[in-house]
Amino acid sequence: MRIDKLLSNMGFGTRKEVKQLLKTGTVRIDETIIKDAKTHVDPKVQTVTVNGEPVEYKEFIYLMMNKPPGVISATEDNHDETVIDLLEIEDAIFNPFPVGRLDKDTEGLLLITNDGQLSHQLLSPKKHVPKTYFAHINDEVTEEDVFAFKQGVELDDGYVTKPGELKIIEAGPTSKIELIITEGKFHQVKRMFEAVGKRVMYLKRIKMGPLALDETLQLGEYRELTEEEVELLRQESSYS
Ligand code: URA
Repeated sequence: MRIDKLLSNMGFGTRKEVKQLLKTGTVRIDETIIKDAKTHVDPKVQTVTVNGEPVEYKEFIYLMMNKPPGVISATEDNHDETVIDLLEIEDAIFNPFPVGRLDKDTEGLLLITNDGQLSHQLLSPKKHVPKTYFAHINDEVTEEDVFAFKQGVELDDGYVTKPGELKIIEAGPTSKIELIITEGKFHQVKRMFEAVGKRVMYLKRIKMGPLALDETLQLGEYRELTEEEVELLRQESSYS
C-alpha cells in the first residue's frame, strides 16, 4: 500500500497533511528516509517509523465495550451520545461501528469493530450466535415461563421466537434471570417477557457467542480483544 495511505489510516492526518509530514524527512521505511507520498510499503515485512517511533499498522480493530445506559449503539446521532463518541481518538480513526444494537437503556457487552465481514456473520440469522442476557423482572418468573420460552413465545407482531433458554437466578416479587437467545429481533428480550405478562426493569448483555463480558470493565470502558478472542469469534461465526 502507499505510504501516505498507511500513515493517514494510522491517524497521521489527511493525505495532504501526511504529504507535509513526509517533506520533513522524519518518515522512514526501514532505514531509508521517504519523501515521496506514492512510495509503496508492505507493513508486514517493512518497518515504518515516524521520528524514530515505529508505526504499528493494522487494518482491523476489535473492541469490547461495557456499554453504559443512556448511550446509543450507533456511529452518529443528532441528539444522543453514541458508543463511538466514547472511544479514544486512536481507536475512532479506524471508523469502527457497533456489531448490532443494544437499546439505549441496556448495558453490557457490545462489540465494536471495522471488520464488516465478521460483523455480518455474527449478526446473520443463519448463524444462530447465542447471546446471553441478565435481567431484573418486575414479577415472579416461574417454571411456566421457562417452559414457554423453551417452546418459543409469540411477540406482539405475531412472530413466534426460536427457543430461549431461561434460567431463574432469584425468584420473588422481582426476579433475576439469565436468558440465552439465538436471534436478535428488535427489543427481543423485553418483548419476550411482555409476551408472558412481565416487564424487564434492567437488562445487561453478558455474553455473545464465545465471548463473555470482561467484568473488570466499568460502564463506558472498553478494551481491545485479544487475538485468541478474535479467533474464537471467527470460529463461532463460521461453524455455527
Ligand atoms: N433485547 C432487548 O429487549 N433489548 C436489548 O437491548 C437487547 C435485547
